Amino acid sequence: MKRTEIKDALQCTQYGQQINVRGWVRSRRGNKNVSFIALNDGSTIKNIQIVVDLAKISESELQPVTTGSCISATGILVESMGKGQTVEIQAEQIEVYGTADPDTYPLQKKGHSMEYLRDIAHLRPRTNTFGAVFRIRHNMAIAIHTYFHQHGYFYFHTPLITASDCEGAGQMFQVTTKNLYNLKKDENGQIDYSDDFFGKMSALTVSGQLEGELGAMALGKIYTFGPTFRAENSNTPRHLAEFWMIEPEVAFIQKDELMDLEEDFLKFCVRWALDNCADDLQFLNDMFDKGLIERLKSVIDTDFVRLPYTEGINILQEAIKNGKHFEFPCNWGDDLASEHERYLVEEHFGRPVIMTDYPKEIKAFYMKLNEDGKTVQGTDVLFPSIGEIIGGSVREENYDKLMAEIERRQIPMKDMWWYLDTRRYGSAPHAGFGLGFERLMLFVTGMQNIRDVIPFPRTPKSAEF
Ligand code: 4AD
Ligand code: MG
Repeated sequence: MKRTEIKDALQCTQYGQQINVRGWVRSRRGNKNVSFIALNDGSTIKNIQIVVDLAKISESELQPVTTGSCISATGILVESMGKGQTVEIQAEQIEVYGTADPDTYPLQKKGHSMEYLRDIAHLRPRTNTFGAVFRIRHNMAIAIHTYFHQHGYFYFHTPLITASDCEGAGQMFQVTTKNLYNLKKDENGQIDYSDDFFGKMSALTVSGQLEGELGAMALGKIYTFGPTFRAENSNTPRHLAEFWMIEPEVAFIQKDELMDLEEDFLKFCVRWALDNCADDLQFLNDMFDKGLIERLKSVIDTDFVRLPYTEGINILQEAIKNGKHFEFPCNWGDDLASEHERYLVEEHFGRPVIMTDYPKEIKAFYMKLNEDGKTVQGTDVLFPSIGEIIGGSVREENYDKLMAEIERRQIPMKDMWWYLDTRRYGSAPHAGFGLGFERLMLFVTGMQNIRDVIPFPRTPKSAEF
C-alpha cells in the first residue's frame, strides 16, 4: 500500500479510509487492552498516534515496537478523541522494519543535554529539537535561492579548491596529495610544490568572493552559496571550521544600495521562516526561547541602524565612562569584540545595526578606501544575540589604489593577476557581502551554539561522523 506522509495524514479529514504510515517510534504506552504508539517520520514535528487493539494484534507481536524502532503501520484513519491531535490510526497491521534495543538505544528518554546530543550527532536528527532545526535549515536555503532568483541574480559556482587567500588571514586548510612525511624541499628548505597535484600550494577556500567578483563583472548580479573553510582555532559558540556562506556580488551599486540589499535580504529570510516554519518555530519558542518569535517579528518591523564605526566607538567609550565594563579594549582602530557589537545592538539601540566605514587596518585588502585615506567602505550587519551576521563592503575598483594596497600588504602578486585584470579591463563600481548561513540559523532558531544548527559540525579537534 502507498505510504502517506504523516504531515499529510494529520491534515486529512477523510475518516474511515485505510492508510499506511511509516516512521520511527517515539514512544509506546498503554495497558493490557490497548497500546498507543507515537510515530514520527520527519515530515513534521508532530507525531501521529497509532492505536493498537490488543485483541487484534497481540502484545508479543508488538514487543519489538520500542522507542527508536522503525515500523510501517496500516489502519483506519479516525477522528481522535484525545487532546492535542485531530486524527489517529486504528491499526490493522504493523510491520517492523528495524528494531532498536531498549538497553542500548541512546535516545531513550527525553530532555538530553545539547552536549550529549552532539556526541550522538548521527542520531540527533531524530529528536524533536534537531528535526525542527534541520527542517528550518532546509527552508532557509530555499528562502535564499528564492530571494536571489526573484531579484534577477545568477547562482554562480565558485571553486572550493583555490590558491588565493581572499581574507588574507592565513586561516586556510592546505590541499595536497603529497606524502607529508617525505616532502620535497628546494635549496632554501622551502617546500617544492611543483610536483604536487596542482603544481602550486593550494587550499580550501575561505570565501568565494574574489571569483564572485569575476562573475559580477560579466553577469551583473551573482550570488554564491556553498561551503567555506577556516582553520580558525577559535572554540566559540559562533565559529565553525566548515560553514556555509552566501555571497552576492553586484555591479554598479554603491554603499547605500548595498546596505539596502543586506537589510531587505535578511528581512526576507526571517519573514520566510515565520511564514514557512510555524510549527517548528513554535516548538523552539516553547521549549527553549520564549522570546524567539517576538524577536523574529521585531527584526522584520524595524529599520536597521546605520552607524559609522567612529560613532560606534564614541558610543562605546561613553558607555565605559558611565560605568559599563567590557573585557576587551575598544579604542579607535581596534576590531570590535562580540561584547561590543552586542552592547550596541541589544542595549544601546535595541535593533540591528549596519556598521560602516571601518579603519582600513582591520579589514581586508579589497575594500574601497574613503577619501580620508584611513577608513574603508565596509558594511557589516550586527544582530541581536549573534553579533556579526554579515560582512560586506564596496570593492576598490580603481586599479592603482588596489595595487598600492596589495603591495603595502605584501600580498604575492603572481597569485592575484587574474583578479587585478577585472580592474584593468572594463572595471566597474561594485559591492557585495557574505552571510554566514549558520549565523542566520542561530538567529532564526534561537539555538545557543553554532554546533547545533549544522548536522555534522567541524570544529578544532572534532571531525567525527
Ligand atoms: O566577514 P567575513 O570574513 O567576510 C568575507 O569572507 C567576505 N569575503 C564576504 C564578502 O564580502 N563576500 O565572513 C562573512 C560572514 C561573517 O559575517 C560570518 O557571518 C560568517 O561569514 N563567518 C563564519 N561563520 C561561522 N564560522 C566561522 N568561522 C565564520 N567566519 C565567518
Ligand atoms: Mg567579518
